Amino acid sequence: MKRSNNKIQFVLNDKICEIDFSNSDLKPTTTVLQYLRSLPNKKGVKEGCAEGDCGACTVVLGELAGDKIQYKAVDSCLIFLPMIQGKQLITVENVGNHKTIHPVQQAMVDTDGSQCGYCTPGFIMSLFYLYKTENNPDRETINDVLTGNLCRCTGYRSIVEAAARSCVNGGIDHFNEKEKQVIELLKEISSNLVNIETTTQRYFRVTALNEVLGLKANHPNALLLSGATDIGLRVTKSKELLPEIIDLSGISELQQISEDDESVTIGAGVNLEEVRQLSKNNFPAMYDMLSVFGSRQIRYLGTLGGNLGSASPIGDIPPVLMAYDATITLESVDGKREIKALNFITGYRKTQIQTNEIIAQITIPKLHNGTIVKSYKVSKRKDLDISTVSAGFRLDLDENDHVKDIKLIYGGMAAITKRAEKAEQFLTGKKWERGTVEEAMNLVDTEFTPISDARSGAEARRIMARNLLLKFWSETKNNHQ
Ligand SMILES: Cc1cc2nc3c(=O)[nH]c(=O)nc-3n(C[C@H](O)[C@H](O)[C@H](O)COP(=O)(O)OP(=O)(O)OC[C@H]3O[C@@H](n4cnc5c(N)ncnc54)[C@H](O)[C@@H]3O)c2cc1C
Ligand code: FES
Ligand code: FES
Repeated sequence: MKRSNNKIQFVLNDKICEIDFSNSDLKPTTTVLQYLRSLPNKKGVKEGCAEGDCGACTVVLGELAGDKIQYKAVDSCLIFLPMIQGKQLITVENVGNHKTIHPVQQAMVDTDGSQCGYCTPGFIMSLFYLYKTENNPDRETINDVLTGNLCRCTGYRSIVEAAARSCVNGGIDHFNEKEKQVIELLKEISSNLVNIETTTQRYFRVTALNEVLGLKANHPNALLLSGATDIGLRVTKSKELLPEIIDLSGISELQQISEDDESVTIGAGVNLEEVRQLSKNNFPAMYDMLSVFGSRQIRYLGTLGGNLGSASPIGDIPPVLMAYDATITLESVDGKREIKALNFITGYRKTQIQTNEIIAQITIPKLHNGTIVKSYKVSKRKDLDISTVSAGFRLDLDENDHVKDIKLIYGGMAAITKRAEKAEQFLTGKKWERGTVEEAMNLVDTEFTPISDARSGAEARRIMARNLLLKFWSETKNNHQ
């Protein structure tokens, strides 16, 4: 295995493209969007928001998956250049070829899917991703794939129509003709390590877990990076210079999933779209939450480890993992230790992670014996919005509908993800009926002093928190009666 020296390599326009950071103005934290826009012939990609919200910067990444290429649509405004080491970068200029435009482009022409056109390159890339990954997608899938792309002029009807009309060829297009050749190129470069050192920054991207643990022990202040959907904004919005980064996105050991009768264990680096899909059967509350989490472009980048590592009081995953009674495995050169998700967050954006540790995996027990877990997210918009209040609730009833165990975990109500413990204690042992639940709602009110901010006033947050409990009761009251 070669250790690259201040260099990254990826495939662009079907050729290996190399960037040498020693003789370039580019930084390891230059985003892929900034890089593409600096090239004379790659300005099709657009910058709208530079924070993952509009999709104008959407590109597609091709990644080796065995002997195939797996395509993912991502926001190029969030990812740093070294994160595309060993991948194929597909931009709007190369979706068609010298002979003809791509079927998704033709469909956009045919359905009048573009007016001012600023959003159009991003839409084309999302449609191209859909074309390569789904045949005859249903309306729900089309809508989900387009959630991360905003258009102010055309309206979505014609764009949705373009998707439905074009994604019907089983993904066959001119990319299939070159697939073998691109796979060979990707194999040639994919295992290269990245070690970039400039006068102000250090960036490591390693591919083995034991190497990362050693690096973290030697560089305790280095910032761990997984999908960059939180960290990217520190650079593009807050203009921070991040001096030392350890990028975990190339470590396949952190991207493993295993399952037995009792639980599913998910690597901290598994992307959230994959977590969403695998949750559908075993963990419906996780599936529901991830179905209103960001957009596909965000979920393909973001990870479970990153959401837990951020420990944001409005992070959507902690309440759900706590309700499922998940266990988080932390790993360092000294070994592994396990912490219950319920005890993981210790203060505002503070967790139990020590400076030499990383989050390695998360184990979610399967539910048995009628235990119910549900998740709720209240936000100003249904899609691509951050929670105003969120919740993960867990309920065990006995055969007489008395509460054996209940956990009520809220996001957005305090500086940390927090349980309504008084309400839990009050409800335990009591009959699961409306009168009791209404009394518990009054207790929920006394447990939090939420803030007022741009999303909501404090009083509205209190009302949401109370009413989510009532909603939970109304959705579960018939389960055991
Ligand atoms: C447009 C947009 C929409 C979003 N929507 C939502 C939403 O709906 N709900 C929501 O909850 N969040 C949302 N987010 C926030 C973000 O996507 C999530 O928090 C995501 O899970 C972060 O994961 P990441 O892998 O990108 O983390 P990164 O940005 O790479 O890292 C985040 C933090 O976690 C730490 N970290 C990363 N990996 C590890 C690890 N293995 N061990 C220890 N520490 C680690 C990093 O050091 C950093 O402090 C959104 C963000 C954007 C830009
Ligand atoms: S520029 Fe808006 S999502 Fe990237
Ligand atoms: S066509 Fe103008 S923003 Fe979409």
